[in-house]
Amino acid sequence: MPSPGELPDTFFLRTFGCQMNEHDSERICGLLGQLGLARVERADDAGMLVYNTCSIREKADTRLLGHLGEARRLKRLDPRRLVVVAGCLAQSRQTEFFAEFPFVDVLVGPQSLHELPLLLNERIESGRQAGAFEESTSRWSAELPRARRDGPLAWVQIMTGCSNYCSYCIVPYVRGPEASRPLRDIRREVAELAEQGVKELTLLGQNVNAYGNERASGAGGDFPALLEELAGIDGVERIRFMTSHPKDVSSRLIQALAELEPVCEHVHLPVQSGSDRILRAMNRGYERDDYLRLVGRLREAVPGLALTTDLIVAFPGETEAEFADTLSLMDEVGFDAAFTFVYSPRSQTAAAALPGRAAPQVAEERMGRLVERIQTHAARRNQELVGTRVEVMVEGRSRQSGEVAMGRTRTFKTVNFPGEPHPGDLVEVVIDEATSTSLRGRRAALVTER
Ligand code: 5AD
Ligand code: SF4
Repeated sequence: MPSPGELPDTFFLRTFGCQMNEHDSERICGLLGQLGLARVERADDAGMLVYNTCSIREKADTRLLGHLGEARRLKRLDPRRLVVVAGCLAQSRQTEFFAEFPFVDVLVGPQSLHELPLLLNERIESGRQAGAFEESTSRWSAELPRARRDGPLAWVQIMTGCSNYCSYCIVPYVRGPEASRPLRDIRREVAELAEQGVKELTLLGQNVNAYGNERASGAGGDFPALLEELAGIDGVERIRFMTSHPKDVSSRLIQALAELEPVCEHVHLPVQSGSDRILRAMNRGYERDDYLRLVGRLREAVPGLALTTDLIVAFPGETEAEFADTLSLMDEVGFDAAFTFVYSPRSQTAAAALPGRAAPQVAEERMGRLVERIQTHAARRNQELVGTRVEVMVEGRSRQSGEVAMGRTRTFKTVNFPGEPHPGDLVEVVIDEATSTSLRGRRAALVTER
């Protein structure tokens, strides 16, 4: 433990929420590492407790409150411990959070991560709580030092924020407007990652298709141009990206998916609802038929394409018939997988003021039916792969017992197969069994060794 007025030498970090937050956490670890702090696995052993928070749904807030109870307890045991709350919830609550949780030392919003060392310093020097909440990106967290998980996979942030204002969503308020990172900076980062042995990239942004489209963007290219540039870098075997907004999928993007070898045959394309009235109330900017036509064009151009999606049930005013439209859309598309969420009102957003909130039992009942429908299609899609050979990038050991390797297909499906795992190997696997969530097979050949 530190003496007063000093930085501690260890930190504990817990991350909530999406991949963007996981990626921001790599930067938080990098910054704290540079300050000389070592990461520890248990909160009890740490001189600093860091929570990188999410505010997309109310459940995320409630979970954080539980963890803050733990922080308060540990701080009582040693008042020199520092408590840092980073991320979207810090941004949405700002200084009112300090009053509510007086044991929190530093608050830092997602656009202000680079301020973390300064804020810690300020807290230690002045003894007062310190916070930073920039509203848009002035310095890319992607340019901060990073502590990356080992292995063949890496996240690369290509843009931040969102300017779509879907009526239910808090993201534009906490992560600011869409802003694209310059293409040449992304290219440099990817070339460095490839040199370190990274083979598979996941390009991250709230709406990656809008890359380079904002007014006065300094990106130097749009999303298809970025894909083309990155696909040409030596050592990059696979490129994934998320999330895509259906209204911004261009013909050139479809062409890039079809033609650029490293770009994987998977698109995560949140549809949210199958009802035109609900889509309008959500301010999504497309209708059910637009979405279906887009799916048709994508599947025609990219054989074997996997499609995954996000869905919200019980949006305010959703009727049984409107929910049935979502179910029938599941049948028409047949997704490979889907994330499902019960609508959660977020203050600041337009939908929070809408009447017609569903009773929790109604929402849960609809959710049950939706999940069942999704699983049926996911199982069928996976079953179609039984007997075929797929290319798998080995990621590590399976959670199953024994010598079982785990990897993913280009279509983002989890594959388990017997054998010692060598992360980064590309192997051909013959699929013997499938469930709605994973595939099982045996190794047929090694394509490339790490
Ligand atoms: N309530 C429920 N789900 C939400 N999402 C975003 N905001 C909300 C909300 N207020 C879901 C959307 C989005 C995913 C990341 O989270 O489906 O695509
Ligand atoms: Fe939220 Fe819509 Fe932006 Fe996605 S596109 S982050 S759902 S506002």
